[in-house]
Amino acid sequence: MCPACRVGLEAALWCRETKTNETGMNAPTKPEEFAPKIPDGVFAETVLSVEHYTDHLFRFRMTRPAGYRFRSGEFAMIGLMVGDKPIYRAYSIASPSWDEELEFFSIKVPDGPLTSHLQKIKPGDTVLMRKKPTGTLVLDALTPGKRLYMFSTGTGIAPFASLIRDPETYEKFEEVILTHTCREVAELKYGFDLVEEIKNHEFLSEIVGDKLKLYSTVTREDYPFQGRITDLIDNGKLFADLGVPGLDPAVDRGMICGSAAMLKDTKERLERAGLTEGANNKPSEFVIERAFVG
Ligand code: A2P
Repeated sequence: MCPACRVGLEAALWCRETKTNETGMNAPTKPEEFAPKIPDGVFAETVLSVEHYTDHLFRFRMTRPAGYRFRSGEFAMIGLMVGDKPIYRAYSIASPSWDEELEFFSIKVPDGPLTSHLQKIKPGDTVLMRKKPTGTLVLDALTPGKRLYMFSTGTGIAPFASLIRDPETYEKFEEVILTHTCREVAELKYGFDLVEEIKNHEFLSEIVGDKLKLYSTVTREDYPFQGRITDLIDNGKLFADLGVPGLDPAVDRGMICGSAAMLKDTKERLERAGLTEGANNKPSEFVIERAFVG
């Protein structure tokens, strides 16, 4: 539905095209000339809001298809029609499974095949989504524990944005610690906004209470909390700052999402502490997933 004209998808696309070509010589006359064909078997959803955080980070929300089910922490293939071809990339769904809308947190890569276009989306635009969500950063892949660590860098916070807004996380764990490390302070804002949103949410605020702690650090700017998460585990500062004991496989569980190097190095720390990696079909003490790039 085009919010300006209150017309359906094909016409909405035509409507935008017509407006952009209003003054041109070849203004379109028939919707079918310009409406890109939506590929079969995918959802075509409408962008509801877009928020730009920095020159290379933004979040957007879009409609959720009726009957679309996913587990908090999973990812989906998101795409756009570029010319007459769809281009898809994996994106963690940042909204929780109960949410009526879908949220995504994305980087902007100037010449990225998808994000160079996706960063320009506006409310009313169409985003494609393949039908099947998947992923390992799900509560089902962890054995019961008391304290859940979510280690993230950059846009790796996205699956945890979903999980920290899911009541099931707090049913399963007494304490939830989300660590978010970025190069610069401005990149931490999405995490701060999430916590603020939870605090102001009618039901979530009560369910979450004081169980959630966000531990944000930067590595390339001055800030009260600095350093890579791996170094902060090694020197114990993470635990001292939070007032918790060191990692213990008897009570601690972990989820990791970041670059390939960050995954490898953080996983090494958890294994050194005695935690073993789990999967959907074999729950254990920690799970990992690469943060996706565009
Ligand atoms: P640093 O600034 O020291 O490289 P990127 O944008 O490169 O993915 O980095 C996001 C954040 O992750 C940065 O703060 C970066 O720190 C940190 N980081 C990069 N590689 C690792 C790693 N192997 N282990 C832990 N943190 C890392």
